[in-house]
Amino acid sequence: MAIVSPSILSADFARLGEEVRDVLEKGADWIHVDVMDGHFVPNLTIGPMVVQAVRSAAPASFLDVHLMIERPDDVVQQYRDAGADQIAVHAEAVKHLHRSIQAVKDTGAKAGVALNPHTSETVLDYVLDDLDLVLVMSVNPGFGGQSLIDAVFSKIERLRKEIDRRGLPTLIEVDGGVKTHNAHQFTNAGAHALVSGSGVYKAEDRRAAIQALKNA
Ligand code: DX5
Ligand code: ZN
Repeated sequence: MAIVSPSILSADFARLGEEVRDVLEKGADWIHVDVMDGHFVPNLTIGPMVVQAVRSAAPASFLDVHLMIERPDDVVQQYRDAGADQIAVHAEAVKHLHRSIQAVKDTGAKAGVALNPHTSETVLDYVLDDLDLVLVMSVNPGFGGQSLIDAVFSKIERLRKEIDRRGLPTLIEVDGGVKTHNAHQFTNAGAHALVSGSGVYKAEDRRAAIQALKNA
């Protein structure tokens, strides 16, 4: 069974608490929170106060926080205090990736690194053992509702092989363009966790969409 992490980017922000509880009640495993700073990506979304509001609306949920921001080291503790269970930083957004991973781990959150479509998985060669999660972007980060970039599949396969070769428990999560009709391609390549924003929140039947993703 895949872990399903609906992205609240496609939810109705005016009713965010209800929207989060709705997908949890319909079977979502995690809640994916897309934090954008208008610098690293050309869009601006939410900050720690909204993460805290989501935490209050769904106290028992697992908050999977995706930081698409510059200088994450300065703020990871704020996101942890707000309720993040897992925090992924972008390899492309930081100068000292090892230090940024340690900054996340120091907060007590699970630590992930996100990779843009153009970034080789080999950038993780010397930090993979420290990671709970690799977040493989299947679109350029910044917006929901984009089409996936096919090169992602060979990247997932290579990562899967390397994680297995090292015998690590590290999870592979994919993000961008994941829909019920293509989810099996990601899981076949070796992904454990599927982020889906529009694929869940804009679905006519959210429960069915979540179930189909889980069974992919
Ligand atoms: C994109 C975000 C994604 C986004 C995915 O920058 O990281 O999490 O919400 O949206 P869909 O599933 O609609 O491609
Ligand atoms: Zn995301």
